[in-house]
Amino acid sequence: MNEIIFGQEATPPEPPPTNKSDGVSTQPVQFATAKVNDIDTAVINDVKDMAHEHVLSIIEKKGATFAKMNNGELEKFIQGEVQSLIYGKQIPLNDTEVAYVADSLFKEIAGFGPLEDLLADATVEDIMINGYKDVYVSRMGVMERVQARFTDNAHLLRIVRRILAPLGRRLDESSPMVDARLPDGSRINVIIAPLARDGVVVSIRKFRSTPLRAEDLMGLGTFDARLYELMREAVRKRCNLVVSGATSTGKTSMLNVLAEFIPAGERLITIEDTAELQLNHHHVVRLESRPGGHEGAGAISIRDLVKNSLRMRPDRVVVGEVRGAEVLDMLQAMSTGHDGSMGTIHASTPRDCLHRLEMLSGFAGFTGNEMSLRRQIASALDLIVQIVRLPSGKRRIYSVTEVAGIVDDNILLQDLYRHESRLGPDGQEIDSWVPVVPYPKNPKIAHVRLT
Ligand SMILES: Nc1ncnc2c1ncn2[C@@H]1O[C@H](COP(=O)(O)OP(=O)(O)O)[C@@H](O)[C@H]1O
Ligand SMILES: [Mg+2]
Repeated sequence: MNEIIFGQEATPPEPPPTNKSDGVSTQPVQFATAKVNDIDTAVINDVKDMAHEHVLSIIEKKGATFAKMNNGELEKFIQGEVQSLIYGKQIPLNDTEVAYVADSLFKEIAGFGPLEDLLADATVEDIMINGYKDVYVSRMGVMERVQARFTDNAHLLRIVRRILAPLGRRLDESSPMVDARLPDGSRINVIIAPLARDGVVVSIRKFRSTPLRAEDLMGLGTFDARLYELMREAVRKRCNLVVSGATSTGKTSMLNVLAEFIPAGERLITIEDTAELQLNHHHVVRLESRPGGHEGAGAISIRDLVKNSLRMRPDRVVVGEVRGAEVLDMLQAMSTGHDGSMGTIHASTPRDCLHRLEMLSGFAGFTGNEMSLRRQIASALDLIVQIVRLPSGKRRIYSVTEVAGIVDDNILLQDLYRHESRLGPDGQEIDSWVPVVPYPKNPKIAHVRLT
């Protein structure tokens, strides 16, 4: 693959009118004998683009080899390739100019260009790029726009491909959508033309090296000590539970906190698309699904892993996100001896969460009728922890809700605690959680008094 054609950018863009290294390094490149001012920067930038494409395609072909190279080796390799390219094509550049091209290329290829600072910034949680000019980050859940520093979509694409190449993932017209995990655990999703209309769209969810603990979430006001006690007891007493919420409400973080409540002696199997959970637990087996190669060949789904995990003598199965056919196996496992299992689900209310479970079970080929499905859900699931994200970016537990049986063909939901917010005397928001009933009905936690 040598050409990527964008909707609006079929020809390579004009190089920038500076002699900086393609906008990547903010420092001018230093040379002992540099006569950078004498260099025709337009020609240089053209050569650099060409050399970049050339080197990148080699790296993509041999991803694994490059992942192992140290910077010195990579620099030598790039120098060699640039020299033979320029001399081979008889491009009239002098030695200083050739060295300049090789050096700026190395800087760009060894690092992540303008993404480098954002990736290194510990306060940045997410990076969202909607085409090279539109860059957003979120910090503590609050989105802000930051200055774009990519020259054009081709520049952005080169950096993204360079990030993906060592992971053995390619991005081109035949696979214009990639989801991958970086070596540091961050997740990256890229989608390009023809699927993305406005160029290269990149979403990065950065890995938190220290996960949010229960204390952190309480400090952030996501829940209070009474909810903490209830949830801890529910996990210890092997309630089956799901954390329900919309995108980025903090489901995975909450699941991580809940899984930490699992007593130390138990054998835990976690199943995720990309391993995000970070448990301090001793006895954890971490499984990760595999997307598969071309047209999904060789894919291993969450469902395959759930099925397999049940043969691995688990005490508990934790599924990062239940979003497909695995729902049936989870429900079955939950009601047949693997109680205490948990997962997250994408839904905006507890009722919605039930609808989603029903819908997914239907897609998964549940053979019984609606009533038997509801019965199965009601007998499998004990608790729903619903989270919401307020407009301010704060995350709150909206309710802890118990699945309390079946009434008139419907699953009965009973909130145990419900979130309320009111305005304080100074106009500030005050959160509280109101107990709705004095005790849960579920025998596993019926002893917990809700105060
Ligand atoms: N309770 C919380 N308060 C503030 N920020 C949170 C909270 N929980 C998670 N976050 C942050 O929100 C982002 C999304 O969290 P995550 O748990 O991955 O959400 P989800 O699984 O719902 O997509 C992360 O950057 C995380 O650090
Ligand atoms: Mg998640």
